Amino acid sequence: MVRLVAIGLAMSASGDATGQTIDGATPVDDAALIARGDYLAKAADCAGCHTAPKGGAPFAGGLGMASPFGTIVSSNITPDPQYGIGAYRYEDFARTLREGVARGGKHLYPAMPYPSYSKIADDDMRALYAYFLHGVQPVHTQPPATKLPFPFNQRWVLAFWNLAFAPNGVYEPRSDRDAQWNRGAYLVQGLGHCGACHTPRGPAFEERAYTESSDAYLIGGVNDHWFAPNLTADSGSGLGRVPAEHIASFLKNGHGGGLVTFGSMVQVVEDSTQYMSDDDLTAIARYLKSLPAQRPSGAYEPASLRARQGVEALRTGAVQRPGAGIFLSFCAKCHQADGMGKPLKYPRLAGNPAVLAADPTSLIRLLVEGGQSPQTTSGPPREKMPAFDKKLTSEEMAQVLTFVRGTWGNSAAPVTAHQVIALRDGIHK
Ligand code: HEC
Ligand code: HEC
Ligand code: HEC
Repeated sequence: MVRLVAIGLAMSASGDATGQTIDGATPVDDAALIARGDYLAKAADCAGCHTAPKGGAPFAGGLGMASPFGTIVSSNITPDPQYGIGAYRYEDFARTLREGVARGGKHLYPAMPYPSYSKIADDDMRALYAYFLHGVQPVHTQPPATKLPFPFNQRWVLAFWNLAFAPNGVYEPRSDRDAQWNRGAYLVQGLGHCGACHTPRGPAFEERAYTESSDAYLIGGVNDHWFAPNLTADSGSGLGRVPAEHIASFLKNGHGGGLVTFGSMVQVVEDSTQYMSDDDLTAIARYLKSLPAQRPSGAYEPASLRARQGVEALRTGAVQRPGAGIFLSFCAKCHQADGMGKPLKYPRLAGNPAVLAADPTSLIRLLVEGGQSPQTTSGPPREKMPAFDKKLTSEEMAQVLTFVRGTWGNSAAPVTAHQVIALRDGIHK
């Protein structure tokens, strides 16, 4: 069964928890319930989407999220009675999270990950409700309205979308698996909504799978011009070569076995997974490691003759391959000529599954825009990767990425200048 999470009360902002009842039901230990809700809200990353960038008040909404239909603005979910969810009863709250139908019957766009939250167990849902109504500061502001073009502004259509695509029913533990595995599955499929980015979407923006029973689950997907990689056991671009401890530490502080979080995963680590208990992170890693390899792509063979010749040529400077010169001039000072990076600072590129990804979208975007590693309470300081949009042409970016994907034993499809140009058009850079 799904284990209850009890974390130190010390961590929680328990607000006005003084013996009042949470939902008109029997009195409960409100402070403990609110603290658990706080933990679950972090595991679900509610703040990540419901807080405006650049210092917006927590949970007051106003973040614009790109979707194929246009920009969808997140709601104020503080307990303000007018602009927030202060008037929500428990039933309204649970229905919003599980079915995507807000109080008053408004159908929400699936930019709010209710298809995943439908899995949330009742006692966790009550803890979340207690936290949002009694542990969060009310903020009396209204986020800008979502304005989508016809026909996407017709919210009633979403009722049919839900019938066609949205799963329902809380998480049902699998009896052929143990408690730890089920805990991991519950967190990944439900609160963590990892599939919202890591599962490919179909033509109606639906995730093509919501559980491991489908072989499309977590095989990689593009959202907002970031490719979230394959999390199944593929030994090239998946997690096949990444031990469970490295996955858990990657989620805890953004660094695991030489991999460093980048792109839209940085915020996931900073807002959400860094706060999860070691037990929960281990359960997640264990669940991910149980997913059989799907959609194999790329390979890492450091002992091959070609790999050894390539490394030797880099060492002696006798390199002819396009991209090698660019790498040595612009990249090697951080990522090192042998592609091994520097532990807890710069990621290794040799054997890095994200570098071998079937879809190079994230690599191109990182090169164009630059990025910074996450800042967490338990991890090393932030490091920057510079932006190369002013330093390299699209052709040169394609060459250096192709080089990185084909050296040190890495083997993944080349990146073309056309792919770089198309992505730069998409992000206007
Ligand atoms: C991936 C982004 C994302 C995450 C994570 C997310 N939300 Fe949302 N949520 C949204 C968006 C966007 C909307 C507005 C959708 C719309 O207007 O159709 C929304 C709407 C809502 C609403 C409806 C409020 C109203 O009356 O308009 C509630 C309640 C809500 N979210 C609660 C939560 C809670 C609680 C969590 C965490 C358990 C959460 N959300 C996590 C994106 C997100
Ligand atoms: C907002 C989108 C988003 C969400 C939600 C998300 N991820 Fe990611 N994830 C990414 C992107 C983009 C990358 C690629 C960049 C990187 O490797 O850090 C990534 C990378 C990863 C990696 C490293 C993969 C590799 O091959 O190096 C792991 C492991 C991972 N995510 C696990 C998770 C888990 C577990 C969850 C749910 C708790 C999750 N992610 C939720 C976007 C997301
Ligand atoms: C000043 C040091 C520095 C330089 C120079 C640099 N990088 Fe990076 N690189 C980083 C850091 C730090 C990250 C992690 C970025 C993040 O988390 O957003 C990174 C991440 C990456 C990644 C993603 C791998 C992962 O797992 O995080 C790739 C691919 C990459 N760099 C390629 C390059 C290429 C190609 C060049 C040269 C054109 C280059 N870098 C130059 C510091 C550097």
